[in-house]
Amino acid sequence: MSRLRLIEAAEQPGEDKFQWSLRPTKFTDYIGQKDLLVRLEISIKAAKRRGEPIDHVLLYGPPGLGKTTLAHIISNEMGSNIICTSGPAIERSGDLMGILTNLQYSDILFIDEIHRLPMPVEEFLYSAMEDFKIDFIVDKGPFAKTIKVNIKHFTLVGATTRAGLLSSPLRDRFGIMHHVDFYTPEELSEIIKRSSAILNVPIDDKGSLEIARRSRGTPRIANRLLRRVRDYAEVLGNGAVNEEIAIKSLELEGIDSVGLDGIDTLYLKTIIEKYKGGPAGIEAIAATLNEEVDTLQDMVEPYLLKIGYINRTPSGRKASHSALRHLGYDVSRFL
Ligand SMILES: Nc1ncnc2c1ncn2[C@@H]1O[C@H](COP(=O)(O)OP(=O)(O)OP(=O)(O)O)[C@@H](O)[C@H]1O
Ligand SMILES: [Mg+2]
Repeated sequence: MSRLRLIEAAEQPGEDKFQWSLRPTKFTDYIGQKDLLVRLEISIKAAKRRGEPIDHVLLYGPPGLGKTTLAHIISNEMGSNIICTSGPAIERSGDLMGILTNLQYSDILFIDEIHRLPMPVEEFLYSAMEDFKIDFIVDKGPFAKTIKVNIKHFTLVGATTRAGLLSSPLRDRFGIMHHVDFYTPEELSEIIKRSSAILNVPIDDKGSLEIARRSRGTPRIANRLLRRVRDYAEVLGNGAVNEEIAIKSLELEGIDSVGLDGIDTLYLKTIIEKYKGGPAGIEAIAATLNEEVDTLQDMVEPYLLKIGYINRTPSGRKASHSALRHLGYDVSRFL
């Protein structure tokens, strides 16, 4: 499954510049995640009142839901500089030492995919986070000694899609932890309207809600579908997006009313038709589809599980009644 899917939550090549232009920069522009925002705003206000940097923040949740966006908002609201890097980019503790010693008081260090930091680097981070000191090793072999070096009081903002992969010593050093959740269609519809205004695309309520329903709870997908629908609106209509244009264009793109694409549908139909609705083992399904098991587990199943279209049982995957109904099967034939 090497081709790009329109409904993929991860960032795709060339998408970066759009992400930036559409990214909210203030709390007031950030739509949804109300509980998280309230709590984060309190932390920021309290830190500012004390005149101190905010505590280290860990943001975790699926791709495309706004973790990177939040990191930048935190830096804007704190009035601090932000330095961005990622787990895989920091290969050796020396790399991290260079970054840490250059930080100014109250700077935000954003480490994306923090679960992918190499272990020695991660261990190096512990004392930096806790005491704002790092162990600087001079000399080698028997003459090696460590000198403690003070660094400025900074804030680490970590983002991860896999909180479960984070070691507990690292996790425990974050004072603030927030889970970023999927968005409702209504929230996504607001995000789409905001993006349309930035892109100068006229859109009505029904049009944006229609795109929102097919966006799998994910702002990045919503913005991507909007850009695709905009192309259709320009070619097939007068450039404005309404319900009809949204439905027509996304159907042409193979995205159905709940955001499933051809691969999702094929996966479900395999379980339903070849395995009588399941349970079917993932290996068997993968073999029938000529796909890798990992691909199905990482790229296809998460959303189907989230919307309750499949259930994982000890004997394999089962298509749910709602999946059967959605695809137009007679549920009573599968009881
Ligand atoms: N609450 C929101 N309101 C408006 N737009 C949003 C919101 N959250 C995310 N977006 C939009 O979605 C896009 C993706 O967000 P972002 O890059 O912050 O996701 P992410 O969680 O960091 O993803 P990844 O895990 O892939 O790094 C951004 O370009 C931004 O425009
Ligand atoms: Mg990100």
